[in-house]
Amino acid sequence: MYINFWYPIARAEEIVADKPLRVELLGLPFVAFRDDDGAAHVLSDTCVHRGGSLSQGWVRGGNAICPYHGWEFGGDGRCAKIPSLKGIKPPARAKVDSYPVEEKYGIVFAFLGDLPAEERPPIYEIEEYDNGEWKAQLYVYELKAYYERSIENGMDPIHNEFVHPMQGAPMMSPEKQRKPVPTTDIPWGAKFYEPFGEKLEHDTALNEQKTGDRVGAAGSWFQGPNQLVTWIDLTATNSFHQYMFEAPVNDGLTKVFFINMRNWLMEEKHDARIEEVTLQVVHEDVAVLEGLSPIRTPNTNTKEILVPGDAAVVRYRDFLKEWDAKGWRIDFKKLKETAGDVAYAIPSPGRREAGNWVLDPVPLIAPAEAPARGVPEEIAELKSA
Ligand code: FES
Ligand SMILES: [Fe+2]
Repeated sequence: MYINFWYPIARAEEIVADKPLRVELLGLPFVAFRDDDGAAHVLSDTCVHRGGSLSQGWVRGGNAICPYHGWEFGGDGRCAKIPSLKGIKPPARAKVDSYPVEEKYGIVFAFLGDLPAEERPPIYEIEEYDNGEWKAQLYVYELKAYYERSIENGMDPIHNEFVHPMQGAPMMSPEKQRKPVPTTDIPWGAKFYEPFGEKLEHDTALNEQKTGDRVGAAGSWFQGPNQLVTWIDLTATNSFHQYMFEAPVNDGLTKVFFINMRNWLMEEKHDARIEEVTLQVVHEDVAVLEGLSPIRTPNTNTKEILVPGDAAVVRYRDFLKEWDAKGWRIDFKKLKETAGDVAYAIPSPGRREAGNWVLDPVPLIAPAEAPARGVPEEIAELKSA
């Protein structure tokens, strides 16, 4: 789990003006609410007076109010009022971390980190989102699995044949499966996009509705540690484009915000059927992912045997290593060990502008202590073959 990326917080309609919403993410508590202008705010949930949970309080005049002694915090995280000190300006230290927020695709995202705006890895841009020829459905679900395992599953074209037998398999021909999945780097990630194996076109559950020239290609890519894209392009005008924004609740639970876009079967009467087919595939993945052992990807590659079909997964791990090297990886073991004694916050951009913060910043893993995650020999050999 990393700081300095955008994370989905909630569906836009879950965040309202009169009631704060508690959200757990990266093992820490946050509070989300709207001010009088309807703008969403995400703050650290821990009141800096004596540790009250702001999300148990209420919202008034655009401020989040602590339920314990009524301290009022604005969307910028500053304490605007201390009721017991009437007429006295709250001290400069009376502030909680406030995170940059963006509302997009019916989701409220927060940037959980302290990078200045120009250095932030972006929220994935869904180009066809506002295009009238496309339709979007948003599903939100949880799985008892580690989010990196879930992203890796998306970067793994071989599992489809076994986990999703109804969806048409195999996705890749036997010759292709023996070669490393060809990946290309993109900003903050990597992608593969390949023609299907022979069968998929005929086995697709929604096959009879297809029109237009055959494209017959599909692929997946990740951008950052927690955003995954899958495109299934049956023909030029019959596509499913799927976007997963994953929120690691903690080291064993993940909340996924899944946007399924399509440019065919546009009428509303198809919504329920497409939802059913899509969620069936999701359940098939979830069942496997919840059974993985260990829950988190092992730190050393000698505890797995990777084959060429895992090459895109390996590329994902390469990128994780880059973010490890930046020192952005949360030291979750330390966080857990000390959680009862120390209240932590993800450092917000405000910490770069001013000092004097009450809560400790979440413990991070120094680059030198990050897991090795080297590219396994088998893959390295096959890459050069
Ligand atoms: S703990 Fe929040 S006001 Fe006292
Ligand atoms: Fe899958």
